[in-house]
Amino acid sequence: MNQKHHIVFFTGAGISQESGIETFRDTNGLWHNNKIEDIASKEGFEKKPQKVLDFYNERRIKVEKVQPNLAHELIASLEDRYKVSVITQNVDDLHERAGSSNVLHLHGELNKCRSSKDASFIYPCTKPIQVGDLAEDASQLRPHIVWFGEEVTEIEKAIEITQTADLFIIIGTSMVVQPAGSLLLSVPVDAQTVYIDTNPDVEEGINLLVLKEKATDGMKQLVEDYLPY
Ligand code: APR
Repeated sequence: MNQKHHIVFFTGAGISQESGIETFRDTNGLWHNNKIEDIASKEGFEKKPQKVLDFYNERRIKVEKVQPNLAHELIASLEDRYKVSVITQNVDDLHERAGSSNVLHLHGELNKCRSSKDASFIYPCTKPIQVGDLAEDASQLRPHIVWFGEEVTEIEKAIEITQTADLFIIIGTSMVVQPAGSLLLSVPVDAQTVYIDTNPDVEEGINLLVLKEKATDGMKQLVEDYLPY
């Protein structure tokens, strides 16, 4: 049976960096200019809601102004030859805008907002959220983002997808944030893993190929040199 190879991409902020979106932990990254506990935590939101809303409002506006880059586009283009799943830690919609049709967001989505009381009340977010903007349950609207200390509700689904990978491609993530950072442990032993990162902090090993490259160059190399036709 001509079973299509299943390629699973696991991406982080590094894949959007060449589109002009800053990462978190590189020099001048988001977490160098903002304190995580003030900006990306429920406590921070309760203490200074408008400050937190403004942080995400600014990022949402910025993402709307940029375009997917060649790395996002090459991933999307593989769908005509392979079964492709994208598991991303990113909250931007650049994978979707590049044409990927199977994207799982582990840490939420900038272009959605939700009730701060009942997480099942989720809405498209096309304009800045202000204090006083309410959900249908009359609670304050908040970004549909997984903040530090909150449950990563999609992790089980991500593990299931990873367990069926023939090829697992990690692009542009420091893998320091858990549980996302441990997805690598769910890759089948006989699957090949490729890690594309400008500053890969891992040793190459059996079934682990490290490409110390920008996402666009690493994806070009992967498609040209490593993917069976
Ligand atoms: N191409 C490839 N890799 C890059 C590029 C690039 N152009 N630029 C940066 N990188 C790499 C860095 O070397 C680093 O390994 O991308 C990674 C970015 O790491 P982080 O800034 O830690 O971002 P990420 O791993 O996505 O963070 C995970 O942390 O704060 C939380 O919720 C947030 O989803 C985020 C999570």
